[in-house]
Amino acid sequence: MLSLAGVGLLAVSSGCDDSEHRPTPTQASGQTKAIAQVPAVDPAKTAQARAFIADVDKELRRLGEIEARASWAKQTDITDEHEKAAAEATAAMMAYTTQAIQGSTAFNTAEADPETARQLKLLKLSRSLPAPKDPALRDELAAIEAKLDGIYGKGKYCKNPKKPKTCRDLGELSDVLASSRNYDELLEAWKGWRTISVPMRPMYQRFVELGNTGAREIGFADMGELWRSGYDMSPAVFEQEMERLWQQVKPLYEQLHCHVRARLHEQYGDKVPQTGPIPAHVLGNMWSQSWGNLYPMLEPYKGEPSIDVSKALVAKGYDELQMVRLGESFFTSMGLPKLPETFWQRSMFTKPDDREVVCHASAWDVTNNNDLRIKMCIKINHEDLVTIHHELGHNYYYNSYYTLPVLFQGAAHDGFHEGIGDAIALSITPSYLKQVGLLDEVSNSDKAVINSQMQTALEKIAFLPFGKLIDQWRWDVFAGKAGPSAYNRRWWQLRQQYQGIVPPEPRGEDLFDPGAKYHIPGNTPYARYFLAHILQFQFHKAMCEAAGFKGPLHECSVYGSKEAGAKLRAMLAMGQSQPWPDALEKLTGTRTMDAGPLLEYFAPLRAYLEEQNQGRTCGW
Ligand code: ASP
Ligand code: SER
Ligand code: ZN
Repeated sequence: MLSLAGVGLLAVSSGCDDSEHRPTPTQASGQTKAIAQVPAVDPAKTAQARAFIADVDKELRRLGEIEARASWAKQTDITDEHEKAAAEATAAMMAYTTQAIQGSTAFNTAEADPETARQLKLLKLSRSLPAPKDPALRDELAAIEAKLDGIYGKGKYCKNPKKPKTCRDLGELSDVLASSRNYDELLEAWKGWRTISVPMRPMYQRFVELGNTGAREIGFADMGELWRSGYDMSPAVFEQEMERLWQQVKPLYEQLHCHVRARLHEQYGDKVPQTGPIPAHVLGNMWSQSWGNLYPMLEPYKGEPSIDVSKALVAKGYDELQMVRLGESFFTSMGLPKLPETFWQRSMFTKPDDREVVCHASAWDVTNNNDLRIKMCIKINHEDLVTIHHELGHNYYYNSYYTLPVLFQGAAHDGFHEGIGDAIALSITPSYLKQVGLLDEVSNSDKAVINSQMQTALEKIAFLPFGKLIDQWRWDVFAGKAGPSAYNRRWWQLRQQYQGIVPPEPRGEDLFDPGAKYHIPGNTPYARYFLAHILQFQFHKAMCEAAGFKGPLHECSVYGSKEAGAKLRAMLAMGQSQPWPDALEKLTGTRTMDAGPLLEYFAPLRAYLEEQNQGRTCGW
């Protein structure tokens, strides 16, 4: 995750309606009409706007650092005191942002120079949780935010609440979901984790009311509209973009779903019917969001190599730090700098046993000045090796843009931030693993390729509908289309519609299942992950081309390619100083998001799935 607090104000990335772009010289030539409409610019006003933004930059840095330090302290040691301090720091930042947004209305963006105009726009979009002006309401909102995050972090399910030994945290419960094939054991772990979010329900309801009030005060219909405004296009067009991309990948998802369901039916009998949706708790993951843990059940060709290096990591005696070093060495092989010494001193790599922490992985720049860190409870396995690359992708983004004005210190849009490390991790191919000694032999036999692709698809293709629906739910909740009496009902409707899954037992409105997923109490927007899962294949393809790779996309690794590194770095260094299509073009040569490269990558697996599914009734 890209920690919201960790990056201060960069919860929602770039934002700029096309309507407010000033014509660039090339666009303007021959467009006398457009030029004629630009009002005369008063140089005094332009200077005032610049001075205003310079002050804002200073203050956002000051308050952002205080907020990030407090948030780091809280997430790495959840106590009442730390929660209180984090809430206070957030409230101070919220107060200032509201005031600055108010102040910015004195300036007409047409009168500001382009850099200033863009910062004025980004300021309005800079908080995913805008606070009401009323100080009492603002403090209440900040306190709820800190509390929700804390409840999640401390969450434990106790079979017998009187016996602490029977209590299990998310890590332990997730291990059950990952490895058990006992239907009832799975059910208990799945239901057990969902007890932790029940107390969040009234708090979340209030959180929505207060956040919406804040959003309205700065000119948005609700928080959802604010979130959807961060993509250099209108919120309505953004929604259409999400839908267009989903339609591109949906047929592939349906093929995977069909095949997985058939195998689960073999495993569990009629508890997983041959048609219809799949019970949510048998997919190897607490939220059924990625299914990589089912790989042993799904392995297409037994005895052929796969890409999972969990065993090799253990056998070679890797510890957490060495896994992070391995991640870093991928980036440096491409000519990117080493992580600063402070990264190694200040990060949290393992789960401490003397205090409560938020284990959910995140990456930070605490000072907006290259104070890079990650916070993660690393397990020695393949999945976490990939997540380490994901988090380091954030750190290298921060590292590439920290010299920019603070309002430009964000990704081109937030999907870019989430997609960088993932794109790099696509280069963790068998030949790369052999190069670093984690695999003995490389096989590019058709069978080995299908095995590897199955593993990757269970992670990334399975994720797509989940990535889309989380904010579908929040947009409905924020807009009042799904009120508190329909929180769970709407959640499960969307889960069924998009993912083709159902809860193993009815889930009433006395429960609050959305709260059992980190990003809901953590208030991290989620459309970014859906976009990242599409974009990462575009990034990968572009880097492979830069590296001069010829061959099928899934075999490419850009390990060691300085050319690919330079192209990547050029895009990262732009931060959000320009509309995202400009950044995308810099790396990929195209200005639109497109699932084409994803589909190209998975072409071999798709053929395999279609063959396997012959004679089966797919869909749900
Ligand atoms: N970076 C991941 C996410 O964004 C963290 C994880 O997979 O644990 O939430
Ligand atoms: N890291 C994000 C999550 O945990 C997306 O994969 O949900
Ligand atoms: Zn992330």
